[in-house]
Amino acid sequence: MTATTPSGLELDDIQSGALHPRPSPYAGRHLLLRIDDRAAGRELVRRLHGIVDAGRPSSDPAGDAWLTVAFTYQGLKALGVPEASLESFAPQFKEGMAARAGLLGDVGDNGPANWEKPLGTPDVHVALAALSPDAARLEAVAEQARRGYADLRGVEVIWRQDCYQLPNERTSFGFKDGIGQPAVEGSGIAGSNPREPPIKPGEFILGYPDETGALPPMPTPEVLGRNGTYVVFRKLHTRVAAYRQYLQAKTASRAQAALMGAKMVGRWPSGAPLALSPDRDDPALGADPQRNNAFSYGDDPRGFKCPAGAHARRANPRDALDAEMLTDVRLHRMIRRGTSYGPMLPEGQLEDDGADRGIVFVFVGTHLDRQFEFVKTQWLNDGIFIGTPAEKDPLVGPNDGTTALTVPHRPIRRRLQELPPFVVTRGGEYCFAPGMRALRWLAELEN
Ligand code: HEM
Repeated sequence: MTATTPSGLELDDIQSGALHPRPSPYAGRHLLLRIDDRAAGRELVRRLHGIVDAGRPSSDPAGDAWLTVAFTYQGLKALGVPEASLESFAPQFKEGMAARAGLLGDVGDNGPANWEKPLGTPDVHVALAALSPDAARLEAVAEQARRGYADLRGVEVIWRQDCYQLPNERTSFGFKDGIGQPAVEGSGIAGSNPREPPIKPGEFILGYPDETGALPPMPTPEVLGRNGTYVVFRKLHTRVAAYRQYLQAKTASRAQAALMGAKMVGRWPSGAPLALSPDRDDPALGADPQRNNAFSYGDDPRGFKCPAGAHARRANPRDALDAEMLTDVRLHRMIRRGTSYGPMLPEGQLEDDGADRGIVFVFVGTHLDRQFEFVKTQWLNDGIFIGTPAEKDPLVGPNDGTTALTVPHRPIRRRLQELPPFVVTRGGEYCFAPGMRALRWLAELEN
């Protein structure tokens, strides 16, 4: 029997990777697999069903190690999911991320033609993510997964990316990440912002009402859609040396460079938000989960503390949007499960060492269009919503050397001009992470 929460959320049927907070620090691994033989693919799913984790969040996340599995549209096809069911998935998922590249701003160097193979190709069928508090436990989970596919002819591992979170939670640009997450009503998992009431579970898990009061469109049959969710993953290379060189060139001192870096992000490296600590970093605030996300922007409409164009404020403007825009921020929230890959550039080094580093950005949500794609295209890649149409997200937007960030300041505002691109898209996929019963249904398909 599936245990439900008071809100009806069937946690035992939902993969842990969707709602479960991660240990910190952790070691992780992403694998992509191709299914060349339908029967072998179903056998893989049958075996994975036994080792993928679901269930209530443990009270001690540091004790856990777990595996999550998701499928691309091509992957569901390779498994032989019936046509009517394939048709019932979200149009963006059916198209795949590479087909959406132009809309997402993935053009030129960021375009699918330049993506790391096999990302964005029809070969990507299954995405596996293993996560664990340390390398030893990661190897144990990865070995379990390996036993699931190693002897299966007709299932091939085609990509591997190791990833991690440092003990200080800093990512390649030097900032702590993963702080801002929504609370999910009925999940029992606390959110990080006490000022944001929990978001309806249907925004993140299929089969439940969302913020509009309706059930989000769910793939059919119900056994396949229910308790599943869409997952977006993007491998994003960060040009850390270029970022450091830029800040050094545009500022007169290290203190000013640090301030401008924080203005670009909306937080200081420690995670302390500019909204609460506008003038200097406050490591105690950054480290305090009770306080480091307990803020809004309503008292700072013009962005003197945190510019409206800062990455985190664009990605979640909280209460700062003009009422006339009639935008309900709660319709554009997302669970993020991003993680670092590649070695960190040593502190203070300005020269590029040629290493591949960055973030495997991971989104979890039920609405690819109004959550991930909306935030990426309307809020990160565009400035219309904050009254600066020519500006893009200064850190992660598709900047090209002609764009800028306006930094309100008294007596005169500052502008960070000629922003180059600091992030390059290496590729990605739209996936569907089914619930546990759905995995069994997939494994038992007969046609
Ligand atoms: C290499 C690319 C990226 C980097 C380095 C990056 C970095 C960061 C950092 C440092 C924060 C502040 C810490 C926090 O609030 O958790 C943040 C917040 C956030 N980012 Fe990103 N990010 C990247 C890409 C993206 C993308 C592509 C999206 C969405 C499409 C996104 C959405 C968000 C959201 C929703 C928040 C939380 C905002 C809040 O609730 O205040 N980020 N990011």
